[in-house]
Amino acid sequence: MKRERPIVAIDGPVGAGKSTIARRVAAEIGFSYLNTGAMYRAVALAAQAAGLTPDRDGIEPQLEPLLHSITIEFAGDRLILNGREVTGELSRPEIGELASRLSTLRIVRDRMRDLQRAAGGRGGVVMEGRDIGSAIFPDAEFKFFLDAEVQVRARRRYEELRAKNVIINFDEVLEQLRQRDNRDSARALAPLIKAPDAMVVDSTDLTIDQVVKQVVKLIKARTEA
Ligand code: DC
Repeated sequence: MKRERPIVAIDGPVGAGKSTIARRVAAEIGFSYLNTGAMYRAVALAAQAAGLTPDRDGIEPQLEPLLHSITIEFAGDRLILNGREVTGELSRPEIGELASRLSTLRIVRDRMRDLQRAAGGRGGVVMEGRDIGSAIFPDAEFKFFLDAEVQVRARRRYEELRAKNVIINFDEVLEQLRQRDNRDSARALAPLIKAPDAMVVDSTDLTIDQVVKQVVKLIKARTEA
């Protein structure tokens, strides 16, 4: 299917600033925004509510019907899971952790891939995640890989959580982030990797505004040429 408008893929590790940047880039270029991490988190929330955690062996047979029956809808920045708004619950650290663990399972990734392709396939969308440019839309017109030093990412994540009134200390955030980086990068299926044709943007010494400007400039340079 020929796409009407381009797809912008923004991948990278936790705390690289993907969500803020992807949302702002989408607004500036008039595209919609899709946060695929929130979809994995929604699955984690539903799995937790059903008592399914990866510690238990063989949860796939029970996860399968759950994955096919849940509904995930976005209403602006809000995520509606099975008809109920769950936006606030998605940022809980244990939900991020569970999402990361469930995301190593093939049935979870396959279902997310189908939903994400259906949602973004027509283009005109900025999609953020871990594997958008490498696995979901390897033919995306624009691919960015956002990165930053681990200490800086942990600091940003810590401040984000504090702003949401989550009680946690910096060392815990740093440790969780390192573990999540390892798991997301080491998993066998669609690991977090930079697609060979992705443009790397390192935000360690850049403000959000500077990164947004740089990304928008690169997109406009090619679409308006
Ligand atoms: O971006 P996030 O922290 O909200 O994502 C939560 C977890 O979901 C992340 O640790 C790994 C998984 N994930 C993924 O495997 N692929 C994506 N495209 C997005 C997220």
